[in-house]
Parts: sequence; C-alpha cells; structure tokens
Amino acid sequence: MILSRNAVCTLRGARSLSTRASTILSALDIPIAAAELPGVYDGQWSGSGDVLESVCPTTGEVLARVRSASPHELHVALEKSKEAYLHLRTIPAPKRGELLRQIREALSAKRDVLGALVSLEMGKIKTEGIGEVQEFVDICDYALGLSRMMNGRVVASERPGHTILEVPNPIGVVGVLTAFNFPVAVYGWNFSLSLAAGNANVWKPSPSTPLCSIAVTKIIAGVLEKNGLPGAISTLINGGKDIGEAIVESRDIPLVSFTGSEAVGRVVGKAVQSRFGKSILELGGNNASIIMPDADLSLAVPAVFFGAVGTAGQRCTSTRRLYLHRAIAPKFLDTLQKLYSGVCVGDPLVEGTLLGPLHTSAAVGVYSNAVQRLRESGADILTGGRKYDQVALSQGNFVQPTITIPKTTDPADKIWSTETFAPILNVCFFDELEQAIEWNNAVPQGLSSSLWTRDLRNVGKWIGPEGSDAGIVNVNVGTSGAEIGAAFGGNKSTGWGRESGGDAWKQYVRWSACTVNFSDAAPLAQGVDFST
Ligand code: UN1
Repeated sequence: MILSRNAVCTLRGARSLSTRASTILSALDIPIAAAELPGVYDGQWSGSGDVLESVCPTTGEVLARVRSASPHELHVALEKSKEAYLHLRTIPAPKRGELLRQIREALSAKRDVLGALVSLEMGKIKTEGIGEVQEFVDICDYALGLSRMMNGRVVASERPGHTILEVPNPIGVVGVLTAFNFPVAVYGWNFSLSLAAGNANVWKPSPSTPLCSIAVTKIIAGVLEKNGLPGAISTLINGGKDIGEAIVESRDIPLVSFTGSEAVGRVVGKAVQSRFGKSILELGGNNASIIMPDADLSLAVPAVFFGAVGTAGQRCTSTRRLYLHRAIAPKFLDTLQKLYSGVCVGDPLVEGTLLGPLHTSAAVGVYSNAVQRLRESGADILTGGRKYDQVALSQGNFVQPTITIPKTTDPADKIWSTETFAPILNVCFFDELEQAIEWNNAVPQGLSSSLWTRDLRNVGKWIGPEGSDAGIVNVNVGTSGAEIGAAFGGNKSTGWGRESGGDAWKQYVRWSACTVNFSDAAPLAQGVDFST
C-alpha cells in the first residue's frame, strides 16, 4: 500500500507491535520502535519519499512504515550504483565469488528467521518461507562455482596467424524488479549471477514486501562493508510505480529483470526495448497438469494438491488447470477433494499450517470475482469458492481453495486463458493425450507444465516437438517447486526470460567477438582483395 506524503504526518508516533512480529523483526536487526524505516540503501540508508505500509496478510497488523526514495535519493542511488560498478568490474571474478560465499554464509545463518519474515510479511507458510531463503543460498553456491567458470570461447579463424575470442565482460548496472510472491529468492537469482558477472545491482522490490528487502539488504550490506566494498553493489530502492518507471527508463541500466504480471511486463518490455536495453521478463503462469490413466495416483494427487494449494496458489508456477484422463477422473477428484477438505488453514507461522492467507485484501477481491464468473458461467464448484468465515481467520485474507469443473472446455475462454493468482483449480477431462497437450498449449502463457504417466511413449511425445510448449516441462513432478540448477522461465506471454541456472548467466554479461592478429600480415576475411 502506498500513502501520499501528506498522509505521513498522521502516521508518526510510537507504535506497539505484536510479539509475533517483533520477535522476528528484532532477530533481523530491524528496529521495531521506529515510526518509519528508511527504504533506500546505496552504501547509506535513506528514504524521504512516499510511505509504503507493510501489512501482515494474516492479522492485518501494520508491520512497518517504510520511506521510499525521493527523486533526489533515486538519482543519488543510481549514481552510486554506477560508481560501484566501475569498482566491482576491476575485481577478478573468483574474488567476487568469495563475496558470494560470504553472503551465502550470512544468509544461511539467518535462514530460519528470514524465512519467518517471508511468512509474516508475504503470507506463505514457514517451510516455504525457509525454502525460499534456501533457494537464495543455493543460487549463491551456484554463482560461486560460476565465478570460476564464466568462460568465453576460442574460435578457429580462417586467416593465418589470427585467432578469435568470444569474451564475456560485465554489463554495468542491472535493475531487478521483483514481485511480492517471492520477495527474497527472485532477487537472489538475479543478484548472485549478476554479481559473479561483475555488475552492480539496483533492486526495486514489490511495494508490499519492503521488510523482506530491507532484511536481505542488511545481510548483503554487512558482507560488502566488512570487505571494504561499496554498498551500492547491491542498491535497494523501495518505491512505487514512479521508481519502477525511472529504473526501466534509465539509460544507465542496460539490463532490467522484471518479475510480475503480463500487463506490466508488456509495458516494461516495450520501454526497455525502446531505449535498446535488454530485459529478462518472468510474467504469468497459468500452468497445467495432465494425468494419464497409468499415472501413480499416490504421487500425482498430492503433487497437484501442493501445486494448486501451496503458497495459496500464488506462485507463478502454481497449478491452475488440471486435465484428467476420463478413466481415472472420478478416483482422482475424490482423493483430491479429501485432501482439500482436510487442509490445515491458519497462521503461516504455525507449524502444521498448509494454507496461509492471500497476500492482500485486493487479491481476495480478484479471487471472489473469478469464482463469481465461474458460477455465472455454469461451472460446477466441487469445493471451496468462499472466504473462510471462522472468527479466527477474519482479520486475514483467507480464502477457501477451490476446485471447479467449468462448463466450457474451450481453452480460448477467459476461464482457461487468464491467470487468477489465487488457489482456484479448473478441471476438465480428456480421452487422448494429444487433446490434453493441445489444451495445455492453447493458452497465451507458457511457464510450467506437468505430465503424470509411466509410459515412455507419452514422455517422449510430451518433451518433444509435439509436446508442451512451456519453459518448464515436467514428468511425474508437479508444476511448481523447481530447483535452481536449470534455467527458470517461460515462453510466449510469460516473456521468454530465463533466470537462475542453466545458461541464464550469459544474459548478465556483454559479449565481445575479438579477432586478434598476431601475424605480420593483415589479410581480409572471405579472401577480399583491397590492395593498393
Ligand atoms: C515464481 O513463482 O515466481 O519453481 C517463482 C518454483 C519456485 C520459484 C517460483 N522455485 O515454484
């Protein structure tokens, strides 16, 4: 939530925070008594722009008020980031790897409490919050290794006494715009590779998760300061749309990595392209699972349950479409509904909770509208479809996980083709795998997909040219919960971006083709004769 500067005066003054929140914030060195926290870091902490409110999605408690960057502070932070880059690029890559090792250690030491902060501020359950910090730790390990392996190539030249090198060099300042749903890991994916590559980074987190960004930045800043390095290697700029726009439009930022909605991604992609910058886009999901009759249902049902209900359906990789082979559909749905009815809903910080709240009250509105549209169109709502009405949950954004059988199977219909960022699973039935693959591919998005089968022939089809057109194509593994080792990202309206593992690091460098002549002649390529 963003408040105008005028509203700030009414917010000043002492605050008392619940023990639930203050224990976590104190353990992360976030002052709990302060009326407002500085949300900008570029070697120093500042912030005198609009106020962002961090609201606990479970209790509605205001956890903190964070000052975003004023236009001047934004300008200074970007200048300092440029300077930091000029310094960082002179440090050998393996030494940058050593920094990542130290950051990994510092994050790992705070893993559980930082994971708890993710649960507190974002709303995902604790094991997932901790898992998210683990994902940052993992990618640090990966980038540490990469820091000794970001290799170029030697290419054979057609000219005698010549050689051609393909050389990766740092690219400059990288802008990283992250979403609320992974308020720690997604910065980690970008920052780790980018730092190993020699770039300074400017992080603009979601305006609704400023505390996670402050806690992570404090940890990174501690390591940078201990090593006598400029803090602006990992600049943090909290703010709203204006700050995002300034980063996207800045010619000082050659690469912008954006995670968020398709609608905003379309604007970001065009704006970056119009100044010939590079972008990495990670946009909508709308992912499907396909269950064949030979699938091991004892594995497939819990995987769909986790994919659709985990993180309250707020991962880009969440399962939103379920295509069931007609032969196993009744049995599958029966077992799945049993899991749904037994789901433990409540405070994500409490052990055993499987379903936390949606992140904002606005998201509850989006959920309710989607359910209403389904009802109006004649969908069969098998379970869920409402807010929880228990008093204990009334302060939070809790909604029932929902399974529906829409009347239409037309993948072009809005019900199937738009992504609702909430725990709603739409189901339909098929007879032939080809039909299910066609439906899987018929939506605009292409992030993740999952096929459950024991038949090798199905697997071959699924991962081949006639198979899933998504960026993540799993077999007997659900749509969500990818490891960091492979490149993560999606095709089509998901944006074609790749982050994390695989060859993703190659985007964070500028490549040069260097032809070097160490002979005593200067022949031209292709035998061209230009003698005088
Ligand atoms: C996202 O939802 O934006 O594969 C990222 C997963 C996680 C990352 C999801 N490792 O579900």
